[in-house]
Amino acid sequence: MSAKQTKKKSAAAAVKHRAKEPAATAVKEEKKIAAKLIPIYIMGKRYEVPEGLTIMKAMEYAGYVLIRGCGCRGGTCGACGTVYRKPGDYKLQVALACQKTIEPDMYIAQIPFFPANRALYDFVGLTSAPEEVFKLYPELFRCVACNACTKACPQGIEVMDAISALKQGNISEAARLSFDCIQCGLCTSRCFGELAQYHMFQLARRIYGARIVPRAEHLAGMVKAVNEGRYDQFLDELKQVKEDELKKLYQEREAEPMTAGEDWKPKDTRYL
Ligand code: FES
Repeated sequence: MSAKQTKKKSAAAAVKHRAKEPAATAVKEEKKIAAKLIPIYIMGKRYEVPEGLTIMKAMEYAGYVLIRGCGCRGGTCGACGTVYRKPGDYKLQVALACQKTIEPDMYIAQIPFFPANRALYDFVGLTSAPEEVFKLYPELFRCVACNACTKACPQGIEVMDAISALKQGNISEAARLSFDCIQCGLCTSRCFGELAQYHMFQLARRIYGARIVPRAEHLAGMVKAVNEGRYDQFLDELKQVKEDELKKLYQEREAEPMTAGEDWKPKDTRYL
């Protein structure tokens, strides 16, 4: 019997025997509850997995080795789009596998990559004119305003409103509304009009960042200083430092306080 099978069996046994131990301590009871197994279906096959796991962890517990469709495990990379349905419910739901907790009898299938249309463009030649987006993504106007995209978004983005802003040529508003997009593609997976909203938003944010938002003067000044070699000596010195000393320097560096105002400066201003 494999280690996993043994683990599953002993967890199941713990649950089974719980009723016979009225004097069990609260701590022991807690452990038994944590070990309770619940049934789920992955790609149509039934597995018993500990309750409380995320879909991603439940899949791994069931033996899946996730090479694609698994990145940050923290809800920020968008690699783990999943579609599922609960028993007795006709509705297909979507979620991030690393965030959604399993429920008994869930039917789960992972869609780590969604083959949506992503326009090819040479960004250098693009302007901030809305027509640039219209030309690259004419399907933008296929949106039927059903709002399925918004309902599917695990980030709570008003996806349909952002698409509406793009249709009106308001790239800045589309960029603002879609700022939290993690490119999981779940909006597209539910779109009746076959739009690749997340790719359109990425283009909007690129245009906004490069062509619309005012350039940060202090950043330009810093880039110039770097190019002029102002930090060369400091970097050369750092390259000579041994690893342990480097770690110490990093740990003891003066960090900007979270509540610092615009006029905050570090004690050592040699490299400002
Ligand atoms: S693994 Fe990155 S969002 Fe789930």
